[in-house]
Amino acid sequence: MSASRIPIPEKGTDWPALRERLVAKGARDVDWRRARTAVYVFHAGDDVLQVAKDAYALYSSENALGPMAFPSLQSMEAEVVGMGLSLLRAPEGAAGSMTSGGTESILLAVKACRDEAASRGADTNGAEIVIPRSAHPAFDKAAHYLGLRTVRVPVAADLRADVAAMAAALTPRTLMIVGSAPCFPYGLVDPIAALSELAQERGVWLHVDACVGGWFIPFARRNGVAVEDFDFSLPGVRSISADLHKYGYAAKGASTVFHRSEAQWRHQIFTFDDWPAGGMTTPTMAGTRPGGAIAAAWAVLNYLGVDGYREKARLVCETRAKLCDAIRAMPGMLVHGDPRLGLMSYGSTQHDVFAIWGRLVRRGWFSGLTTEPRGVHQMLSPAHAGVADEYLADLRDAIAEVSASGETAKDTKAQYA
Ligand SMILES: Cc1ncc(COP(=O)(O)O)c(C=O)c1O
Repeated sequence: MSASRIPIPEKGTDWPALRERLVAKGARDVDWRRARTAVYVFHAGDDVLQVAKDAYALYSSENALGPMAFPSLQSMEAEVVGMGLSLLRAPEGAAGSMTSGGTESILLAVKACRDEAASRGADTNGAEIVIPRSAHPAFDKAAHYLGLRTVRVPVAADLRADVAAMAAALTPRTLMIVGSAPCFPYGLVDPIAALSELAQERGVWLHVDACVGGWFIPFARRNGVAVEDFDFSLPGVRSISADLHKYGYAAKGASTVFHRSEAQWRHQIFTFDDWPAGGMTTPTMAGTRPGGAIAAAWAVLNYLGVDGYREKARLVCETRAKLCDAIRAMPGMLVHGDPRLGLMSYGSTQHDVFAIWGRLVRRGWFSGLTTEPRGVHQMLSPAHAGVADEYLADLRDAIAEVSASGETAKDTKAQYA
C-alpha cells in the first residue's frame, strides 16, 4: 500500500499503553465478536478462539522452514495433513502440505499440475485451466504467476458448473479443470462426480477447490446434510485445497493442499543450491513459515474433534436453513440456487438488493455482495446462530425502508462512498 513516511519513535512505549492503542484502533472495525460480519471471520466461540490464540502464542517464534530445528512443527504439520487426508478419503500414498491460505494452496496445486505436465514433455507456456465462472480468482492469480491462462465457462441455470460447456471448452492445451466445493459466490457445490469423469475421459487434472468446504462438508454429511461426493473417493480428483482458517476455525494463515500421490506432490517442491549457503528446498511458496499458524490449527483440530466439528456444522447449517426459509417467504425476495452449507447469496425481484445491503451495513451487519445475479452474500459462522432472528428483523426493516424510499444502489453507493 502507499503510505506517508513516518519516523520510527525514538523511544519505545510500554506494552499496556500500546495494548490500549491497539484496542482503540479496532474500534471502527466490523463487530465480528458479536457476529455482525458474515465474511472474513469464522467465529466458533470464545473457547475455540482462546485455544487458537494460546497455541499460536506458544509457537509464535518457531519457524517451520527448519524441520530439523523444529521437529515439533514437523510432527504437527504431519498430523494435520494426515487428518485432512483421512477426512477427504485419500488413497494410501497420498500427500499434502500446510500453506498460508487458500490462494497459496491453489497456486501450489496449479504449479504441481503444470510441472507434472512439463515433466511429461508438454509445452506448458500459456497452457489452459478451464474453470467455472464462479471459481475463485486465486486460479487467475495462479495462472498469471505461472505463465498459464484461465478459461472461465458460464455456469448452468442452477448456478453450478456446466460440465457439458466445460467439456466443450477443453482443448489439447488444457492441463487442469476445476470444480468448487462450494464456490464462493453462491455457496453451491459443483457436480464434482461428473467433472471427475470428464477429467478421466480427457486425461486432464481435476482440482477441487474445497477451501470453504473441505473441513466442513464431511461433518455436515455426517449430520445428514445431502451433499454429493467431492473428495478423493472420486478417481478423477487429483488435488484438493481446504482452508483451516475458514471452517477449520484455526487462526489466520492456515490452509491445506492435498495430492492423490506423493509423486504428484513432489512437483510442488522448489529446490535451489547454486548460491553460497547450500541447498534450499521448500515445499510451499513461503520461505519462513509461521509456527503459530501450524500450532493453532493442530490445537483447534484436536480441541474440537469430530464431535465438535459436527456440532459447529449443525449450528451453521441450521442457521443457513433458517435464513433461506425466512428470505424465500418474504415477498419479492429469493435465494440464489439451493445452498446446503454455510454460504449463501440472496437477491430480489422487486427491490434493489444493493440498497438493502446498504441499510443492513448501516445497522451494523457487514457482508459481501454478488453481482451475477445481484445479491447479498452471507458466509455464516457458528456464532450467527445466536443473532439470526435479530438479523432477519433488521432485514425486514431494511426492505421496508428501501421499498418506501425507492432507494437504488446508486444512492447506496453515494452514501457509502
Ligand atoms: C472457494 C474459495 N477458494 C479460495 C479462496 C481463497 O482463500 P484465501 O483468502 O485464504 O487465500 C476463497 C476465499 O474466500 C474461497 O472462498
